[in-house]
Amino acid sequence: MAGQNPTASKTWNNRWTFMLAAAGSAIGLGNIWKFPYIAGQYGGGAFVMVYLLCIALVGVPLLMAETSIGRSTRLSPLNAMRKLTSDSGAFRGWEIVGWMGMFTGFIILTFYSVVAGWAMSYAWDLLTGTFDGMNASQVGGEFEALTLDAPRQIFWHTAFMALTVYITARGVHKGLEKGLQVMMPTLFALLILMLGYSMFATGNFMKGFHFMFDVDFSKITGEAVVAAMGQAFFTLSLGMCALMAYGAYMPANNSIPRTALSVAFLDTLMAIISGLIVFPIVYAHGLEPSAGPGLLFVSLTSAFANMTGGAYLGFAFFVLVSIAALSSAISLIEPTLAWVTERFGMNRIAATIMIGGAIWFVGLGSVLSFNHWAEVKFFGKTIFDLSGYVTDVILLPLGGMLTAIFAGWVLKRSVMSQELAMSVGMYNLWRFAIRIIVPAAVLLIFYTAIFK
Ligand code: TRP
Repeated sequence: MAGQNPTASKTWNNRWTFMLAAAGSAIGLGNIWKFPYIAGQYGGGAFVMVYLLCIALVGVPLLMAETSIGRSTRLSPLNAMRKLTSDSGAFRGWEIVGWMGMFTGFIILTFYSVVAGWAMSYAWDLLTGTFDGMNASQVGGEFEALTLDAPRQIFWHTAFMALTVYITARGVHKGLEKGLQVMMPTLFALLILMLGYSMFATGNFMKGFHFMFDVDFSKITGEAVVAAMGQAFFTLSLGMCALMAYGAYMPANNSIPRTALSVAFLDTLMAIISGLIVFPIVYAHGLEPSAGPGLLFVSLTSAFANMTGGAYLGFAFFVLVSIAALSSAISLIEPTLAWVTERFGMNRIAATIMIGGAIWFVGLGSVLSFNHWAEVKFFGKTIFDLSGYVTDVILLPLGGMLTAIFAGWVLKRSVMSQELAMSVGMYNLWRFAIRIIVPAAVLLIFYTAIFK
């Protein structure tokens, strides 16, 4: 089948490329910025425990399903869904998964780019000494000032989208692979260095540690469970066909289960380390864990502002965070881009500029929601908050659930068993998770979100 397909020639022939692209997609602002701030808002340990359960029980099986769907067809997500639907003689409506994925990726990138823009802005400001010697409340004031400054945010949002378009147009393979091979390990090394700082220099490591891992069962509220599941989807890039799009380029002899486990493990490790860096610093500087979206920026920058060489370390840190965000952003465009080029035969560069331009434009709404449009609210939420809420609580879980039902109940059994190539026992375990656990878990959070 793959041999007859015109796109099969696009297969990445290095066996590490898929791993790098998938890990690059998964590891991003979701781990370093979002995980600590959401865990902080929902009170730590209880949230972290539910989050870890969601990764293992829902995330990993779904990662395998999405990748398999992409690889078995070697088509863009929408056409993959169409082809498999007609091969299985199923109801055509399943292609909604492909449409939703493109829409969801679009929405996520509109606000993701704004936050990535903050990281770039911080890299610049640290390097130029803006924060030197500031205390935590002054650093906090600077974060406020940035969110109130629309032109400055638009500048960095534009810069990030321009970079994203440039790299996406060249493709992960040509555009980023070489860079990522160096940057991801460097980011990891820097995180370990920062972890050392939190352990030995803040005097509050154990306090941060307990905050993250002491489970207070009374804090497992409906809202916390919903947030934990949404975060699990977000951090693993699940529920919007991103890994389906990458799966289409994965060599046939790569092991999908092994790759999925490695990606989930690395991604979770990065998030946990980020939390262990952030919370001790939060305590050391008298900040609040529940501070919200500014948590990473204010806490780490307070530390950088007061250590020798902090300006350079901080610069390096935020540059690497921006690059991690870039490798995630690419995967948010890829499903749409793959389909547009397939469907209209459009050139990849022109298509990327068009899609990126539209995302950039809608993203202005997120920038303005912190200042000029702060009073513009839908269901009590600003545009920025609403975009995050709708994707985390509705679109990603819904996309994930439909993908799971499709893979577990609709698809011919042979498609999945061939792609996964697991022992019968493991395969049955996977099948149980994808047919029962994933849909049930998502239904449970919808129920909780509506009736909590
Ligand atoms: N997982 C990325 C992060 O943690 C963000 C991301 C990239 C994403 N592609 C995605 C989230 C697809 C949901 C779906 O930063």
